[in-house]
Amino acid sequence: LATGLSPAAAQTFPSRPITMIIPFAAGGPTDVVARIVSEAMGKSLGQAVVIENVAGAGGTTGSTRLTQAAADGHTIMIGHTGTHAASVALYPNLRYNPATDFAPIGLVNTNAILITAKKALPANTLSEFVAWVKANERTANNAHAGIGSVSHTTCLLLNSIMGVNPQTVPYRGTGPAMNDLVAGQVDYLCDQVVNVAPQVRAGTIKAFAVAQMTRNQALPDVPTTTEAGLPGYQVVVWNAMLAPKGTPAPVVARLNEALKAALADANVRARLAELGADLPTDVQATPAGLQAFIESEIAKWTPVIKAAGVTASN
Ligand code: MLT
Repeated sequence: LATGLSPAAAQTFPSRPITMIIPFAAGGPTDVVARIVSEAMGKSLGQAVVIENVAGAGGTTGSTRLTQAAADGHTIMIGHTGTHAASVALYPNLRYNPATDFAPIGLVNTNAILITAKKALPANTLSEFVAWVKANERTANNAHAGIGSVSHTTCLLLNSIMGVNPQTVPYRGTGPAMNDLVAGQVDYLCDQVVNVAPQVRAGTIKAFAVAQMTRNQALPDVPTTTEAGLPGYQVVVWNAMLAPKGTPAPVVARLNEALKAALADANVRARLAELGADLPTDVQATPAGLQAFIESEIAKWTPVIKAAGVTASN
């Protein structure tokens, strides 16, 4: 394991379909982005890139699974701010180190977080929502994709800014959480724009604000948190493509080339833009750029999680 390929084998990579581990349930934001990008990567690699959803423990189960796979490029994953940054402070017994146990391929995209609620919630603006949560703190509930997931940590931050501590309801991804929000089973969800935009456009949920400096291209009618009166709440998260540590550099380079080609594809760009995702910078899209970015994100999220005083076990 993890000894890598001979140079000759690296030249013939990939020799069979590639498995892409998605550490959350199908239909959620990580899965949706993965399906768009993997299809295009499959075309340029000449082998299918097959998604395997390995959900649980806020995405740490699937991430651990990748570290146990052969380091030959035929098993890769898409992780995110939760699995590869916030997890370090959240899980005292995390079975991997996001900064040293992976071979980064490239950043895939960034996603703004939106504050969303079930349609029947009696609030139509962010300030009405804040007042509603404060008045109903004991019964209000907040759905998320498991301890340490993006929907969990970003709503923890929102709840602390609002000064409330409502019940939280864990799911195996925000795909299933969103289904329950649409059905009115849960009250609110902090979720990534790619999962939210289709539902807001369909009018099945409410979106009170987008937590970024400028309005999102996919939902131009939704105000920013600054416009809506909560300027302290700014959160943009990311998806990163990773291989197991020890994957040979030529194989990583081939995967990076395929990722870049996918992100340059007009159809991929149009689909991601329609969902409100933003593309990485040229530097973030390289293996070395992603390594530095992950390290900076661990440094950024560790004090935030420690200050919130939350921990989890997996
Ligand atoms: C999250 O961390 O909330 C995830 O991105 C959820 C998901 O992809 O399903």
